[in-house]
Amino acid sequence: MKCTQLCARRSPAAACHPRGRTLPAPRAASTPTIQLTVQTKEGPSVNIAVESGDILRTVLLAEKVDLYTTWGKVWQCGGGGSCGTCIVEVREGMELLSERSAAEKKKLAGKPATWRLACQTLVGDGDNSGAVVVATKPQ
Ligand code: FES
Repeated sequence: MKCTQLCARRSPAAACHPRGRTLPAPRAASTPTIQLTVQTKEGPSVNIAVESGDILRTVLLAEKVDLYTTWGKVWQCGGGGSCGTCIVEVREGMELLSERSAAEKKKLAGKPATWRLACQTLVGDGDNSGAVVVATKPQ
């Protein structure tokens, strides 16, 4: 007989979990999704379903979005938050994104509050879902 407490042991639950202890409830099978729309100057908008909590830069590069200007393509820091070339403008859904990091506060000082560094921005917190719209290369 298998344990009924999802611990994958081959013994009954009473043997696996003496004293009535049970395992925590399993997490949801799927992570919440953020619907991300990316507006570019070069072409049509791109719609991406993002797992809540993913890094915006990683998502954009995986989808082959042209994130960087020519200067950024040459000198970007690879996501370390030190070059300031991965700027996007958040047009909707700012409340679903992570707070500005220390690197962003430094690099984006004096810039519009809607600008973010894609490499420092988490899309969602792992539990939330909704819609976010960003535009690339606002500078
Ligand atoms: S890639 Fe350099 S700051 Fe984002």
